[in-house]
Amino acid sequence: MKTRFGVLLCLLFASLSLSAATLKPGHYAVASAQPYATQAGMQVMAEGGNAFDAAVAVSAALSVVEPYSSGLGGGGFWLLHDAKTGQNVMVDGREYAPAAATASMYQDKQGNVIPGASLNGPLSAGIPGEVAALAYISRHYGKLSFAQDLAPAIKLARDGFPLDRMFHAMLKSREQKLKQWPAAWKVFYPDGQVPATGYVLKQPDLASTLELIARHGPRAFYTGKLAREMVKAVRANGGIWSLEDLRDYQVKLRAPITGEYHGMRIVTVSPPSSGGIVMMEALNILSGYDLAKDSDLMRKHLIIEAMRFAYRDRAEYLGDPDFVKMPLARLLSPYYAAGLRAAILPEHATPSSNLAPVTAEAPESQHTTSIAVMDKDGNLVGGTFTVNFRFGSGFMPPHTGVILNDEMDDFVSKPGVPNGFGLVGNSANAIAPHKRPLSSMMPTFLETRNGLAILGTPGGSRIISMVMLGTLDYFNGGDAESIVSLPRYHMQYLPDKVFYEPGAFSAGEITGLEKMGYSLQQVHPYGNMQSISWNYQTGKVFAAADPRDVGSAAVK
Ligand code: GLY
Repeated sequence: MKTRFGVLLCLLFASLSLSAATLKPGHYAVASAQPYATQAGMQVMAEGGNAFDAAVAVSAALSVVEPYSSGLGGGGFWLLHDAKTGQNVMVDGREYAPAAATASMYQDKQGNVIPGASLNGPLSAGIPGEVAALAYISRHYGKLSFAQDLAPAIKLARDGFPLDRMFHAMLKSREQKLKQWPAAWKVFYPDGQVPATGYVLKQPDLASTLELIARHGPRAFYTGKLAREMVKAVRANGGIWSLEDLRDYQVKLRAPITGEYHGMRIVTVSPPSSGGIVMMEALNILSGYDLAKDSDLMRKHLIIEAMRFAYRDRAEYLGDPDFVKMPLARLLSPYYAAGLRAAILPEHATPSSNLAPVTAEAPESQHTTSIAVMDKDGNLVGGTFTVNFRFGSGFMPPHTGVILNDEMDDFVSKPGVPNGFGLVGNSANAIAPHKRPLSSMMPTFLETRNGLAILGTPGGSRIISMVMLGTLDYFNGGDAESIVSLPRYHMQYLPDKVFYEPGAFSAGEITGLEKMGYSLQQVHPYGNMQSISWNYQTGKVFAAADPRDVGSAAVK
């Protein structure tokens, strides 16, 4: 089925329905990366909106108060659970490549990847999907109008809000990049310098863009004056967008990945996110062990090895399902997992050295954002969306207030050459017209007999290992608070290194892992997980924002 500015139905609806269908939490809750966005969601639900309205309100508000992470110029995935029907659906609002894009567009004449070309300026921007996704969710799942859902974001953009320490730090870190693009520079550096914490940032152009969309719907973004302005500015600055690229963009509805880990039900996103496949493959490997009986050291060794094997398959097989045939049944098969498990040595790290070494390391502070929303009836939304790196491409078409993404870097610019996250890949994730770049974003629902949880986080390639550790924590009796707080560690096959936060390993575990042959590297705290958990037995709902950042969570 195809409708303009609407949606393409792919594999529709997962059959798994969370048993929350018969229970109602009686509370509503929001967790997001920014207090004003959390408030926007709570406000919309207080006004009679449901979780879907609130998710739209929170996402739109984040485009104003956290534009370094996500926005109308970006895209992402929203995982919905409809309590009435029991259905789960993934709304794929991922960007796609412009029609003029080619597999070698970021290579020079010698075939070398041009540093930064897929990360800076309008040539690095895919066609945004966020506006189409939010309009779809509001229209098909919300109770309020799209204009009502967007109202808090419009007010934040028009009246302004005081900059917090994180926004200030982001502006400081991106000063040189944004200086190149006058429209963005004018909005974010009003006196030609980084504004102080507490400065009230107003974004009148973004307010007008949001108002236009609120009044006329997504067509006001994908066609008409705004679209013409964006395309003209993109092309004048080295980009390749066309009016047809914008006009033809469609949200896709996809069946989520559903699976189990020792009886815990998991609903998560499918390709073009790699997240669900990689996490399920790793959990299938781990499900052959009784991790509770292992020592902490052995458990961490097995988890790291499971990550290694699953991330390797990411690089080899995964891409946009509308362009690439992927052996998903095999990757998700317990027999395949058993084969990989047999290759894991009980006392030794498995070297990743049969592939060329990759030197690039994931940057410490990637940006993207995640939300968790639940309403009184048990409707659930997990969303993870992004402009890719901080402030995306840095480019803002004049008069729009919209920062464009640099999502083209999530494609493979050249097989074997790592992207900004240190990820490698092959032709499965090569650039092609209207293809969606492979992502790691993975909003996820978990359900045990005792309750359910929503979780998701930014963090580029590390998203998957973070969600996996959160998933194991929930399985072990954790709740939203512990899920977002627990110390993290990460292995993505290449580079052959384990990155870990302070506190993730004890001194004894560090010695033990090094003895097994692991190369360990402590990194700054990373991720910004948002979670909600609902305990069926006690009726308690918890919402938690990652303590590493400035986010907030609320329950009513
Ligand atoms: N832009 C990061 C991701 O989608 O994985």
